[in-house]
Amino acid sequence: MSGFYHIVTYGCQMNVHDSEKIAGMLKELGYESTQKIEEADIIVFNTCCIRENAENHAYGNIGMLKKLKAANKNLIIAVGGCMPQQIGKADVLHKKFPYVDIIFGTHNLNDFKNLILKKRESKKAVVEIVGGNGDVCEGDNPYRTSYPNAWVNIMYGCDNFCSYCIVPYVRGRERSRQPQNIVAEAKQLIADGYKEITLLGQNVNSYGKGIDGASFPSLLKQIAEIEGKFRLRFMTSHPKDFSEELVKVIASYGKICNNVHLPVQSGSDRILKAMNRRYTSAEYLKKIEILKKYIPDCTVTTDIIVGFPGETEEDFRATMDLVKQVGYSSAFTFVYSPRQGTKAAAMENQVPEEVSKARIMELIELVNSLTRVQSAGYVGKTCEVLCEGYDDKKDMFLGRDEYGRMGYFKCENNPIGQFVNIKVTEANGISLYGKII
Ligand code: SAH
Ligand code: SF4
Ligand code: F3S
Repeated sequence: MSGFYHIVTYGCQMNVHDSEKIAGMLKELGYESTQKIEEADIIVFNTCCIRENAENHAYGNIGMLKKLKAANKNLIIAVGGCMPQQIGKADVLHKKFPYVDIIFGTHNLNDFKNLILKKRESKKAVVEIVGGNGDVCEGDNPYRTSYPNAWVNIMYGCDNFCSYCIVPYVRGRERSRQPQNIVAEAKQLIADGYKEITLLGQNVNSYGKGIDGASFPSLLKQIAEIEGKFRLRFMTSHPKDFSEELVKVIASYGKICNNVHLPVQSGSDRILKAMNRRYTSAEYLKKIEILKKYIPDCTVTTDIIVGFPGETEEDFRATMDLVKQVGYSSAFTFVYSPRQGTKAAAMENQVPEEVSKARIMELIELVNSLTRVQSAGYVGKTCEVLCEGYDDKKDMFLGRDEYGRMGYFKCENNPIGQFVNIKVTEANGISLYGKII
């Protein structure tokens, strides 16, 4: 069987990597990738439901395919990922888009190849969602698309049940892969020429529960000890489990980037409690202090939600204060979006949209000003970036330094996948511009 596939991915890095696994299965079936959706024989939407707008994007884009499907009866359209995994959602999707051929969830992603084969045999849509807690997937064969970085799952699911969050409902219970399999995968990736490994989990700090002798710090050490020049990153850390032991490991290995993503969500203790985050702002700041004690140059990024139910002006000010105190190098900011089935969706005092919007604008302005000041501090300095691509519009190559800052530069030959030293000549918001030295 030959033909083209096109995958549209929404959501987090976990989903980006899941799409690589889907691509791997399609390659095994003989399909090739295409950037042009119109020429595809299989179109897969790998969806996200973390916020309402993520779902709306998917609805819009799936809706637009009706015409393509009418023009090409052999086209297979598949919708998978977190959105159909929500209870009852697969039926909603099936009714709304009867021309979608395959609907699957996160728990049967690894069965996707069989679903395609099944669809080829049948005229009817294949709608298969597997409930339960999910399993641990080892030995899959992703078709990687993010060279020189490679994503590696270390665990699946989440048990934290932050009151606003849908992830524990659509990704199942927390479960870890065997450390020896992860280390073997990392070794192979380095041998294959990958220069950066990013370990993925919803809460990497609780990695290894239920596996004798396994822990996240020990896993990090084992990977950092693999020979060769490469960078090691991980996401996401939950502040409640972010330990001094882990900080020491980051500090003692040059390969582990001095850049930590530590989502705070809010600076107000009252809101943190209602969010079920299980730390106070003081406890969070203490972790930052420990991090800076061992690694003074470590940059910290975060996620923040504004407009959580009951958030007052005072709560929001506490968030603004905390952001200033930590001095994040950048932050992802979100307006709270009620998710059906979560505790927060049933809470009273939902914050009016215009209030949330005004707050997020103020927060973004603050975050941007912090980023600008830090970027400006780079001018005249030399930094080592790992070249990861080429920007057509800017006509320049781009790469990040260990701290996560993006640098753009010109180069005669193609340096993608190489570590390059650039002297920063200009800073513009989050981006740096420099010359190779
Ligand atoms: N496991 C990670 C990331 C989860 S999703 C963590 O614990 O941090 C990424 C981010 O989306 C979260 O950190 C949170 O800031 C945001 N988010 C999750 N649910 C949301 C909701 N209902 N509304 C708005 N933002 C949300
Ligand atoms: Fe969601 Fe909280 Fe789990 Fe992160 S830790 S995925 S925010 S429930
Ligand atoms: Fe990721 Fe969205 Fe699912 S953030 S885990 S793809 S709900």
